Amino acid sequence: MQVQRYLAMFSAVLLWLGLLTLITCNTANRQFLHENDEFVATKNVDSDTLYFESARKDKGLKEAANNNCTISIVESIPQNLTYKPDEYIHPSTYSGLKALLELAKESVHIASYYWTLRGKDVDFYDETADEGEDIFNTLMDLGMSKKISIKIVQNEENNDTALLAEKAFAEVQTLNVTRLLNSGILHTKFWVIDGQHFYIGSANLDWRSLTQVKELGVLVWNCSCLAKDVEKLFDVYWYLSKPDSSIPPVWPPNYATSINMSNPAVVSLNNTKARIYISSSPPQFCAPGRTKDLEAITHVIEQAELFINIAVMDYLPVRLYSDPGYWSTIDDALRQAASSSRFNITVRLLASKWNHTMHDMYAYLCSLAVLRSALRISVKLFEVPVYSEDQEKIPYSRVNHNKYMVTDKHAYIGDYFITTAGVAVVVDQPQYNTTRGNLRKQLEDVFMRDWHSPYSHFVNCSHCPHLEQDGHAEL
Ligand SMILES: *[C@@H]1O[C@H](CO)[C@@H](O)[C@H](O)[C@H]1NC(C)=O
Ligand SMILES: *[C@@H]1O[C@H](CO)[C@@H](O)[C@H](O)[C@H]1NC(C)=O
Ligand SMILES: *[C@@H]1O[C@H](CO)[C@@H](O)[C@H](O)[C@H]1NC(C)=O
Ligand SMILES: *[C@@H]1O[C@H](CO)[C@@H](O)[C@H](O)[C@H]1NC(C)=O
Ligand SMILES: *[C@@H]1O[C@H](CO)[C@@H](O)[C@H](O)[C@H]1NC(C)=O
Ligand SMILES: *[C@@H]1O[C@H](CO)[C@@H](O)[C@H](O)[C@H]1NC(C)=O
Ligand SMILES: *[C@@H]1O[C@H](CO)[C@@H](O)[C@H](O)[C@H]1NC(C)=O
Ligand SMILES: *[C@@H]1O[C@H](CO)[C@@H](O)[C@H](O)[C@H]1NC(C)=O
Ligand SMILES: *[C@@H]1O[C@H](CO)[C@@H](O)[C@H](O)[C@H]1NC(C)=O
Ligand SMILES: *[C@@H]1O[C@H](CO)[C@@H](O)[C@H](O)[C@H]1NC(C)=O
Ligand SMILES: *[C@@H]1O[C@H](CO)[C@@H](O)[C@H](O)[C@H]1NC(C)=O
Repeated sequence: MQVQRYLAMFSAVLLWLGLLTLITCNTANRQFLHENDEFVATKNVDSDTLYFESARKDKGLKEAANNNCTISIVESIPQNLTYKPDEYIHPSTYSGLKALLELAKESVHIASYYWTLRGKDVDFYDETADEGEDIFNTLMDLGMSKKISIKIVQNEENNDTALLAEKAFAEVQTLNVTRLLNSGILHTKFWVIDGQHFYIGSANLDWRSLTQVKELGVLVWNCSCLAKDVEKLFDVYWYLSKPDSSIPPVWPPNYATSINMSNPAVVSLNNTKARIYISSSPPQFCAPGRTKDLEAITHVIEQAELFINIAVMDYLPVRLYSDPGYWSTIDDALRQAASSSRFNITVRLLASKWNHTMHDMYAYLCSLAVLRSALRISVKLFEVPVYSEDQEKIPYSRVNHNKYMVTDKHAYIGDYFITTAGVAVVVDQPQYNTTRGNLRKQLEDVFMRDWHSPYSHFVNCSHCPHLEQDGHAEL
């Protein structure tokens, strides 16, 4: 039973999903973000901070002044996985979530897939469950003694949230996506604190996601305009998880957003101007104004001029759920970008290899890798090693589970690259020559750190005989 549950959980992960194609995305009004773009980064010698002169001229100035946000990449690096000393590792997911919870004064709203934060929730107990236990206990404490309103929407019932409901007065609702759409799951992982701060990333509410599985997300502080936008997505889930709910023909205005791909929020992220919006999927869950995930992904791919770096767990251009079959929208977009005659774009695809990798994935990856004389595309697999007997015994761990895309223009960070129900942050920051305050550049550095690490290897397509002869060329 347990195994079946995990199998369902992980086989569902990261498949290009047909649901997204059910509603075609509105691109009629698409404005390209870089038209008339006047991002001019100048160095302020006194304060050593980047600021932007051009913002003075546009409405961005007022917005930016009110949205002085702080953003940080947070990562879970599996126990014992190390990098060279000069490689940068961002603060841990655990420390970030803990810091968020410590700020909470009024509310904690969590959108989640499954919950196994406590050691006893997983068949094999390992001492690295400590951090998950601590997050669980902190939540419990917030609800019990500090009387903070905790609301949780989840994909399935579990003992962790049952306890939080019983003892910490958490309001818990379960969203049955299958009931609403005939297939699918709630795969989203975000946290919103006091309508001010939030986390969006790949980390599940699972102790392994803090210490044994490689994850990446962003923490955003002091950013009410965006935090409130994430709350709107929470409200959608909350509404849909009421018993007997149905998807409204048109979402009422309180779920709608004015922040989207063609009208991103202009904010200051660590004193660096950025344009940012939150995309969502499936399309049926998108209220008016909300950019659909697929639209965001294809836009980010189409806007790239130099490189597209993608990190995902699984890469399969197929639909598993409704109407199973080949589904190549993103695969096509990547092939087009990698063969562009207008720009010399390098595509790097970093997928994950572990004991539960679906075998078909290698064929799809090789179908890209084998075309390397026609496409500027390289494909690698990242494998998290096992360093101890205990690590080998922890079920469904030791895997690179992060999903994000970084180009010369954008950072796209999702809980899922494409999903039945998921969200992503899209950040538009041009190429500054510094990493300071530049989330996009920092994400690029994370990608290249992993790409060049000893844990990444070019996909071995030796079962395709033509490939064996000349090995693999790195772009
Ligand atoms: C934003 O906040 C930082 C520190 O919190 C401060 O140094 C900076 O001056 C603020 N910027 C604006 C435009 O208010
Ligand atoms: C793995 O990490 C643990 C805890 O930090 C440490 O005790 C152990 O020696 C490490 N093992 C290896 C093989 O590095
Ligand atoms: C909840 O805990 C009980 C006993 O500790 C266990 O038998 C049961 O399988 C757990 N339920 C879930 C959904 O994990
Ligand atoms: C979700 O809905 C489907 C279809 O209505 C139903 O078969 C299934 O049992 C439900 N799942 C849960 C956990 O209630
Ligand atoms: C958020 O804003 C508060 C009040 O202005 C400030 O004290 C705090 O340092 C800010 N936090 C971050 C992480 O920027
Ligand atoms: C994006 O937001 C703008 C401004 O709120 C709105 O006019 C536009 O219709 C939205 N775009 C989409 C695709 O919904
Ligand atoms: C394209 O870019 C790659 C990587 O930056 C570079 O090695 C190659 O020489 C470029 N090709 C052309 C035709 O400019
Ligand atoms: C994966 O399977 C191989 C062979 O059965 C085993 O040696 C390895 O330790 C397993 N890895 C993990 C993480 O369990
Ligand atoms: C960034 O560096 C490049 C090459 O070093 C230089 O040509 C360019 O002017 C620099 N851009 C900025 C904004 O400083
Ligand atoms: C923004 O500032 C915070 C706190 O100082 C830091 O942790 C984070 O890495 C910075 N983010 C960026 C994108 O530089
Ligand atoms: C690919 O795998 C084959 C068969 O296992 C092996 O002989 C070959 O050395 C591998 N090639 C590379 C480049 O790793």
